[in-house]
Amino acid sequence: MRLSVFKTHDELSRSAAGHIIQLVIAKPNAVLCLATGNTPGLTYKHVVELAKKDQVDFSRARIISLDEWVDIPRTNPGSCYSFLHEHIFAPLEIHHEQINFFNGQAVDLIAECQQIDKKIHEVDGIDLMVLGIGMNGHIGFNEPGVSNNLKAHVAELDDATRVVGKKYFSGEVELKRGITLGISQILAAKKIIMLANGSSKSDIVKRTLEEEISNFIPASFVLNHPNSFIFLDELAAEKLSQRPSVNP
Ligand code: F6R
Repeated sequence: MRLSVFKTHDELSRSAAGHIIQLVIAKPNAVLCLATGNTPGLTYKHVVELAKKDQVDFSRARIISLDEWVDIPRTNPGSCYSFLHEHIFAPLEIHHEQINFFNGQAVDLIAECQQIDKKIHEVDGIDLMVLGIGMNGHIGFNEPGVSNNLKAHVAELDDATRVVGKKYFSGEVELKRGITLGISQILAAKKIIMLANGSSKSDIVKRTLEEEISNFIPASFVLNHPNSFIFLDELAAEKLSQRPSVNP
């Protein structure tokens, strides 16, 4: 694991965007798995800008879903699908056939999990996984206490996730369950970039990096991945016992 601290969220996001762009240049049919939410939004904005500026071709890139809210329609602007559609799929003209996304409204959620498991196998694994850290240390919807050998599964959401998740929705929603890739699939990715910004994440960042690696803090498993990068801004890093130097 390599830890980098950037002065600002914008600098962190530019760097993360650079990794995504470099991968797609080197491997145009790369398999990407992308978190949604406030943390990576700026990274995706920079990906789109860079891709347009340097004419990077995303027409062969493939997308595997990381997670989705159960019982929320894909068309709801708060859904993970809608977020990525707005920030990545539409601006980069990534077509339906390139995307394999969880349907959180599927009648048979187990079959939904199995089809993603099968797809990951068919595409020979995920090349790059972009993660955010939840306030409770979750990654995807792998909530504290999750088993680390699960594949795609339906998760009962932690109380913190149910409350915090409302920020993505304009109307009243009841968030009970999520459908998510499992820790074993996240750790099988060839490369992981995990991002955190802002002082609200400083406690969980400190716990992730300084406490024992365990399923109580699912994000801590990323530390064991041989090709993982953790990108923090200065605010997210502010409570670390040893302040790493800031990227110039
Ligand atoms: C969403 C996801 C979640 C978020 C996490 C942080 O697809 O995978 O694990 O990354 O909850 O969310 P933000 O970035 O909104 O703080």
